[in-house]
Amino acid sequence: MAKKTLNRNSLKPATKLASAAREYAEHGAVNPAVYRASTITFPTVASLKPGGQPYVYGRRGTPTSRAIEDAIAELEGGYACKVAPSGVAAITAALLSFLKSGDHLLMVDSVYGNTRDFCDHMLRGLGIETTYYDPLIGDRLRDLIRPNTKVLYLESPGSQTFEVQDVPLLALIAHEMGLVVMLDNTWAAGHFFKAFAHGVDISIQAATKYIVGHSDVMFGSVVCNQATWPRFKAGYEYLGLFAGPDDMYLALRGLRTLDLRLERHMKSALHIAEWLRQRPEVATVLYPALSNAPGHEIWKRDFTGASGLFGLILKPKPEAAVAAMLDGLSLFSMGYSWGGFESLIIPMHPERTVAPWHPSGPALRLHIGLEHPDDLIADLEAGFARLNSVT
Ligand SMILES: Cc1ncc(COP(=O)(O)O)c(C=O)c1O
Repeated sequence: MAKKTLNRNSLKPATKLASAAREYAEHGAVNPAVYRASTITFPTVASLKPGGQPYVYGRRGTPTSRAIEDAIAELEGGYACKVAPSGVAAITAALLSFLKSGDHLLMVDSVYGNTRDFCDHMLRGLGIETTYYDPLIGDRLRDLIRPNTKVLYLESPGSQTFEVQDVPLLALIAHEMGLVVMLDNTWAAGHFFKAFAHGVDISIQAATKYIVGHSDVMFGSVVCNQATWPRFKAGYEYLGLFAGPDDMYLALRGLRTLDLRLERHMKSALHIAEWLRQRPEVATVLYPALSNAPGHEIWKRDFTGASGLFGLILKPKPEAAVAAMLDGLSLFSMGYSWGGFESLIIPMHPERTVAPWHPSGPALRLHIGLEHPDDLIADLEAGFARLNSVT
């Protein structure tokens, strides 16, 4: 059991993660049970009344769901959390809860592709208009806000192009005009960027990535402040969302080691990013934690660390040379994900509408996993030799 007498606010992040939500474990176990519940029974008619007992129906919450929700809410420093079967489900539930026909949404141009698709297709079909804005827009955001604008959506840094947004400034402007501010906080895993302390109302994660951390579960989380919680909770329940009990359990298991894993992801990513910056084949490294990298100043001001995902722009090379480099890698795999223990690399072709992004050469995205960085550097070094051998 977590010590009830502790002032949890004073605990360090690693301690919070290791001890969060332990009150849901029973019989001396340190982990909560995996409750597979649809039916939950009531002993008396009186207990059927609202508030009569803490659990009422599987989808409305079990000790397994409450444990992971409380733990993620505490990680992010928010009021309360709901979990979803994927990051996209979490994002769409948050947007649908705060937008209705005739409303207008301000969406960052560097947003994750599926979020863009949802806006361009589903929201448009529902009569909700989206305007994309430059991630580095600053004060000019004011000019885009209309009387029917309801939500400002941020993703910082963008998970492909890595622009770091001035979240406090944008949130301030949005709040002056009564907007709800949502952030995709997956890159910082709710750990290295404290969304609520920087003015965000709703922090969303593809918990699939760092929270789960082992590349074996799809999962999403939405953490709200107190003001936005009732409306989001109602929307989540109207949509009938929940997540599988095994996935909830695995997400909580991943969360226990989040601090430790992120520390290693950051250390290795910084080391490898520094090495890459010295390579003659490399034009730019897009890693905000790197001094002089784009976004470094705001990152230093607002973040307490960096995860293992960054971008790389190579000097111009033919496609076949890049293919030779990537096809022959042995530790880096190619995959459209990140946040797990394994290193990944993928060519990137980000879609933009208002803030053009034209890299000077082939663009790659790397996720630095938990392998030893020396081995990863050796893998990349052999890759550069293959890149150079194709002319
Ligand atoms: C930044 C970001 N947000 C959201 C998602 C969606 O998460 P999921 O794949 O769990 O639906 C992803 C997935 O890659 C992502 O990179």
